[in-house]
Amino acid sequence: MRGFGAPMARTKTRRPGVARTLRKLTLAVEGWRRRGERIALVPTMGALHAGHIALVREASRRADRVIVSIFVNPAQFAPTEDFSRYPRTWKQDLAKLAVEGVDLVWAPSVTVMYPQGFATRITPEGAATAGLEDKFRPHFFGGVATVVAKLFLQCRPDYALFGQKDYQQLKVVTRMARDLDLPLKVVGAPTVREKDGLALSSRNVYLSTEERTAAPALHRALKECGKAIRAGAGIDSALAHARLAITQAGFTIDYVEARHADTLAPVASLKDGPIRLLVAARIGKTRLIDNLAV
Ligand code: PAJ
Repeated sequence: MRGFGAPMARTKTRRPGVARTLRKLTLAVEGWRRRGERIALVPTMGALHAGHIALVREASRRADRVIVSIFVNPAQFAPTEDFSRYPRTWKQDLAKLAVEGVDLVWAPSVTVMYPQGFATRITPEGAATAGLEDKFRPHFFGGVATVVAKLFLQCRPDYALFGQKDYQQLKVVTRMARDLDLPLKVVGAPTVREKDGLALSSRNVYLSTEERTAAPALHRALKECGKAIRAGAGIDSALAHARLAITQAGFTIDYVEARHADTLAPVASLKDGPIRLLVAARIGKTRLIDNLAV
């Protein structure tokens, strides 16, 4: 027992509530909504890093209550992908969310999310068929759209926070919310990076020391490519330079593209509208993606 007069343990951390059933989640959400409190949702697959935490902070700025979902969604992984070895760091995740004062962690099991007999899948088009991630992960955006729609309906947020790190995903989810008249605002937040430019990602833990040293080449190449285009270089030659730099750093390229920042349609020059550069490349066993505004 703490003796009389002993200093109180001063800590701002408060362990968030954890809901693993829809019933528990709905009870919390309905209580908040009845009191007119605004809710923000941050959907994640856990293995939380500073990029996720930036989304949580933006959520706290916008709403009275913050829900973070942690669910490694099997529907967005192909059988050949890293679903089973995807990093799962529940204890550390919860400790980080406690520091941020998150109200609730929504952590359904696969059977709560996809019960026996589950048979409905959302098939997004538009940005989801732009020929970027979709070309290499054809199952991916269907899985993302389906789970994100469910998360929106389960958590009924006023705001949902997504990172620009996954730029095509942000576009797909924004469009889906609009197309399905889901009553919330999708907010995109800037990419959080390491000092050397590497975009934070849960998958960075897969990188060997050598690969980690090479990895910032992705961001560096995009930065130089953007600079060249702004200085008047042709898009094709700027992209060719970027591809060379990325390959020389030891990556195998899936794509390095310049697209319209809103529609993700191909662009021929700066006159075609705001441009976003997008890259996906593999080094060793790890696939990394990144993107940058021109
Ligand atoms: P996950 O990869 O865990 O990412 C969760 C959110 O964090 C996404 O919106 C992602 O864009 C954002 N994020 C990741 N790295 C970031 C960084 N370096 N800076 C800023 N934001 C970053 O994306 C998913 O999970 C899933 O597809 C999900 C949307 C949860 C659906 O299953």
